[in-house]
Amino acid sequence: MQGIDRNTITDAVIASFARAQDPRMREVLAALVRHLHAFAREIELRPEEWRAGIAFLTAAAAITDERRNEFVLASDILGLTSLTDLLQSVPGATERSVLGPFHAEGSPLLPVGASLIGDNAGEPVLVRGRVLDMAGQPVRAATIDFWQTNAQGMYWQQDPSQPSDNLRFRMQPGDDGVYAFTTVRPAPYTVPYDGPVGALLRAGGRHAWRPAHFHFRVLAEGFAPLTTEVFPADDPYIDEDAVFGVRASLAVPFLKSDAADDAARYRLPRPFSLVEFDFRMAPVRSAQ
Ligand code: BEZ
Ligand code: FE
Repeated sequence: MQGIDRNTITDAVIASFARAQDPRMREVLAALVRHLHAFAREIELRPEEWRAGIAFLTAAAAITDERRNEFVLASDILGLTSLTDLLQSVPGATERSVLGPFHAEGSPLLPVGASLIGDNAGEPVLVRGRVLDMAGQPVRAATIDFWQTNAQGMYWQQDPSQPSDNLRFRMQPGDDGVYAFTTVRPAPYTVPYDGPVGALLRAGGRHAWRPAHFHFRVLAEGFAPLTTEVFPADDPYIDEDAVFGVRASLAVPFLKSDAADDAARYRLPRPFSLVEFDFRMAPVRSAQ
């Protein structure tokens, strides 16, 4: 391969992948090379800047283990994780949002109407809604997987003072699709910023805060798995989520309710906060 110069190198690298067996792999690699080279040309990438980029990746690898993945975090704060969610969005279905690192399999299965409050201090909240299909009909045999921080912004995995499985559950709505539970209002928290991603945030003049949120993963046969989040619309960080997970349709009011029947039924003090949120499930995509 002679005659490589600054004008021909991009096509030469793309051509070097021409024999990739899988056409999608060929397409992805060609676009990756095209955009990487365009990036370097646009900023006239200097050798010391290229070395700093490699040092970032090396530091991310060094800090990554089973519990912490700095590459996922880098993808999150660069908006790439959210962009892949947005590219999958189906008009009319509940919008997707990031999974984050605190989901765990095997949360306790609780009945509809269960309380998560226990010894958790904080503002009591009743959360309820339905799991629906695109026609607005209840989805049968759905499973909701839920997790959140406590009122100090900590997940139980980060905080030895919380019992294991605190503020998380799985729930199977009945044939009416209705789910309901009581909990405490979660709090904003920071994504980890003690590693190379933190250094990048600081260099970029950014903070590491996420607005408070509930995490949901809803599964039902025949429907695409839905991973999403629900945010209090009045959260101070609602417009500056470090990982770009907020969508307008997922920012909801935490209404003040004084309803005596709900308070009695769910053993809540009055007033309490009320969050009503329906999930709209998209049908599973046909194989591509
Ligand atoms: C979370 O919401 O749990 C989360 C998402 C992205 C990065 C870190 C945490
Ligand atoms: Fe989270």
